[in-house]
Formats: sequence, structure tokens, C-alpha cells
Amino acid sequence: MIRVRSRSGAEEPGMEEKIKELITEVESFEASSKEQAEAFRLKYLSKKGIIAGLFAEMKNVQPDQRKEYGLVVNELKTKAETKFQVLSEKLEDTGSASAETAIDFTLPAEPYVTGARHPISLARKQIVSIFSRIGYTISEGPEIEDDWHNFTALNFPENHPARDMQDTFFIRQGARDTESIALRTHTSSVQVRVMENSKPPIRTISPGRVYRNEAISARAHCFFHQVEGLYIDEGVSFADLKQTLLYFAKEMFGTETKIRLRPSYFPFTEPSAEMDVTCSICKGNGCNVCKHTGWLEILGCGMVDPNVLDNCKIDSNKFSGFAFGMGIERIAMLRYGINDLRLFSENDIRFLKQFRGEIA
Ligand code: PHE
Repeated sequence: MIRVRSRSGAEEPGMEEKIKELITEVESFEASSKEQAEAFRLKYLSKKGIIAGLFAEMKNVQPDQRKEYGLVVNELKTKAETKFQVLSEKLEDTGSASAETAIDFTLPAEPYVTGARHPISLARKQIVSIFSRIGYTISEGPEIEDDWHNFTALNFPENHPARDMQDTFFIRQGARDTESIALRTHTSSVQVRVMENSKPPIRTISPGRVYRNEAISARAHCFFHQVEGLYIDEGVSFADLKQTLLYFAKEMFGTETKIRLRPSYFPFTEPSAEMDVTCSICKGNGCNVCKHTGWLEILGCGMVDPNVLDNCKIDSNKFSGFAFGMGIERIAMLRYGINDLRLFSENDIRFLKQFRGEIA
């Protein structure tokens, strides 16, 4: 135990304990402002502070105990200095900041530029949502397809012009239809896969990208997007097809929209039709977009040819169905007043940013 002589000359016991207590006090000290930290510094580390006082006491310590005394007082000093430094740094970071670094919360915010959905995505989402509401599932399939799924199963005669090099991007020509590989020309190929792998009732739509070997212009492109639909069950009739498409047209273009069906031809449907809707731009009165007819062609459809059902191992005596297919670009062009197909794939930011805030 270190003993110090008091002013009266008597020895004061327990100095070591006192200093140890001070050490604990220093260690547990916390400050929440710079003022408190400064008060701490004044109390312990200033010229007239506690530590200076303790060093001044050295002369009163018994000579044989001075070394020990010096060690504890030094420990206290180091602890106090470290504490002060840590507190100062901490309060510098978080405490009241200086004028140059202060954040002025009243300044106007930097505008936050949000992205936009692509118009094709917007139209696709709308079409998908309209059919989902009446129980259609979504099916997807490969873009690189064999001849069987893209043509043969769909009742394309062997020398049908659609198989021609002019329309189809062939990847590999093979002896059999499962060996010939091409980029799919429509998503009807996905429906063949669905029919092969599931049993009726089938109600599905297949959105996706398709490819055709066409010269690029405002009205044609070598790739575009489709949504094709298929409904197969017992006793499905042309009236069901018509009602489904009327529902779609009203949901997509507005409740006042009318439809009309014109006879057409597709190898995989019989009878086949093309559907027009009243022009949503001039409300059927005639304008440039509908070439003054008041009508716009938007999709192909028909009753699934029994040969197609048989090709996919579905009993055509028991089941019937309808199918339809539309180009998403065409729908998006009508919906958003876009007049050039090439805009969809040029990635021009001035075009794309106009769809900011559009939700499907
Ligand atoms: N598959 C046809 C096309 O790509 C569209 C279609 C689908 C027509 C279903 C009739 C029935 O043009």
C-alpha cells in the first residue's frame, strides 16, 4: 500500500485504491457533447487537474514507493488521454457539424430518374392479365424449335410456302421434321407442346418472341412478339371463340369497342377468321390509322383443325377447341399511337422514356 504524508505530516493510507477508483471512473466516462468532453479534459488532464495534482504529490510519497506510485498515476494519465481522444473523435463525426459540412435539408432534392417498362412488356402484361382473369394459364416454350412443333403438327402441308426459306430462319435442315431446326415463326409451337403434354380441358396463352425472314421496315421486322391462345374442351364452339374475343377487345380497347370476323385461312384452324376491332383512335369514324375504314385488323383465329388435335394425341371426336394469335407490337402501336415498328428495338431513350409511369 502506498502511503502519502498529508500536509499535517500524517500518512494518508489507500492512495492506490483512490487512483484505481479514478481509473474506473475515467474508463466508464461517457460524453454526449463536446462541452462534456472538454469538462473531462479540464478535470483530469489540465495543468490544475487531478492528474497534475497527483504528480505533484510525488514528493510526499515514501521514496521506496515512488516507483509504484508513478506507475499507477501514469496508467490513469494514459487512460484519461485515450478516453479524451476517443470522445473527441466520436463527437467530431456525429456532433454538431461545422458550417461547410452541414446538410441543408431545405435545398430542393436532386430529381430521381425512374426507368420505364418497354411498351411491348406493357402490352404483353395487359393481354396476359385480361386472359388470366378468365382462367387462362401461361405457357412458354423454346424459341429454337423443330419443324414438327412449328409446322408439321400444325397441319402445314409439306410444301406450304410458310416453310419456305423466305419466311423461316432455318438453323439446320434435316431429313425428318424432328431433325429440322428453325427459329419459331409463331408461338403456336408452344401450344403443340402443351397439347402433347396435357389433357383437356386446356385453356392457355403463350406469349413470346417469334422470328420471320422479312425485310425490316416501319411495318415489318425480322422478329416480333405474339400472344397466342388455345382453348380445348368438350363442345367448344365458334360462339365461345367469338365471345372470348369480344371480351378481350372490350377489356383492351374500351367497352364501346365492336368486333367483326372475316373468313380467312390458316393450316391449323378450320374454319379460320381474322378479327377486326373498331378503330380506337377515331372511334370507327375513319382516320389515317384505320385507312378511313373505321376498322383495325388485330388477330387471326379459328377452330382448331381436328388433324392438329389428332397429331397431338387428343381425341378429335370427343374434343374441340379454338385458337387465336396476335402480334403484341400491333396492339402496342394501337394502344400508344406508335407508327413505326422499328422504334421498339432501337432502344432510343427519347422513345422509351415516354412510357415512364405507365403501368400494365
Ligand atoms: N399462328 C398464327 C400466326 O402466327 C396466328 C393464329 C393463331 C391464327 C391461332 C389462328 C389461330 O400468324
